[in-house]
Amino acid sequence: RVSIVEESIECLRRNDLGGYTIPAHNLYPFQWNWDSAIVAAGWAVFDEARAWEELDTLFSGQWEDGMVPSIVFHKPSTTYFPGPEIWGLPGNPSRSTGITQPPVAAISARFLFEHTENVKLAEKKMTDLFPKILASHRWWYKARDPENKGVVAILHPWESGMDNSPSWDAAMQFPIDNLPPYERKDLHHVNASMRPTKDTYDHYLTLLYRFKAENFYDSEKLYWVSPFRMTDLCTNSILFRANRDLRWLAIKLGKDDVVKEIDEWLDRGFEGFRQLWDEKSGLYYCQDQLTGKLADAPTSAAFLPLFAGVASKDQAAKLVENLRRWLDNVPFGVPSTDPKDPRFEPLRYWRGPVWIIVNWMICNGLLHYGYDDIAQRIYDDSVALTSNAGLKEYFDPKTGEGCGGELFSWTAAMCLAWLD
Ligand code: DGY
Repeated sequence: RVSIVEESIECLRRNDLGGYTIPAHNLYPFQWNWDSAIVAAGWAVFDEARAWEELDTLFSGQWEDGMVPSIVFHKPSTTYFPGPEIWGLPGNPSRSTGITQPPVAAISARFLFEHTENVKLAEKKMTDLFPKILASHRWWYKARDPENKGVVAILHPWESGMDNSPSWDAAMQFPIDNLPPYERKDLHHVNASMRPTKDTYDHYLTLLYRFKAENFYDSEKLYWVSPFRMTDLCTNSILFRANRDLRWLAIKLGKDDVVKEIDEWLDRGFEGFRQLWDEKSGLYYCQDQLTGKLADAPTSAAFLPLFAGVASKDQAAKLVENLRRWLDNVPFGVPSTDPKDPRFEPLRYWRGPVWIIVNWMICNGLLHYGYDDIAQRIYDDSVALTSNAGLKEYFDPKTGEGCGGELFSWTAAMCLAWLD
């Protein structure tokens, strides 16, 4: 693994545009929220100061209301659509998107704090970051759970990070608006078979323009007007885990006054997750908040409540039973959709391919619940995939072929922080 470690360091340096790391050149040329928070853990392995800087730069894009946007547009680029002129206006580009992404920051900050060799720096940085991360969690509850469900809503598939997951198929049937003509740039960089379809993009853009029309992404309004409103397992599992890690940081930093508030989020989250469990199939599902229906798609997000630590022992056992079956059906795990499901597409982004960061979250959860053998199997698959195919964005579970973007930052970060 010596060479992949060197290659990973080289990859992060190459994708470093000065205080922030782009996920990959051309395909994603700005700072993405959850990518960056994960990438910080990779930097921490060889340059702690740079790791903290990644989070600082991400939070420099935080909105006044507390939201951390999904993309911060620090410097111009012509290789991405929809860029700052679409989110803003031609001639008046936006500094960021008007939507968010899974809140990994607290998880990352705890990782940095626990692995630090420079406690002084870590304490200084955390003192600065803590109130910002806290404000972002408060934003989630205020803007995305105004009805006190205990679980938060996403309003755009891009917010989940799992853009074209089959979990959104039914909810994405709303009619598309009359859109200004547009040209996708992702297809210049990656084969169309590995990306979302045109129909999916038309829906993505319909949402974008509708949200822009709400006084440029007014958080108070979007929840009530969006034709897409889901309880996403990925976002909620990450938020639940992030709350636990924020609580840990609060105690470390002597901020006991906020522990009660975080405990309430955790208690309510625990209740909220109950509705997402389906005893019959032994899986969790996302829920359409507008119809109340569970999305029936079996996706890898179903295993993320293990990472959150919100599943009971019995639920964990049922999840593991499913997971074993999925792994027995493909040479490389974990596929992002059950390989026996008709919606499984081994190359198409979040409809089948393996993502190393999801493997990391699932393994972390499995170890917590005591399933060391299956965690080891996923770890070994992750090592094999990255050794054979390199630092690709995602991987075909049937062949191990690398797909999507090349020299991908969060895959590199996982090789450094996890698969070393
Ligand atoms: C995309 O594919 O453009 C999204 O922003 C990534 O989530």
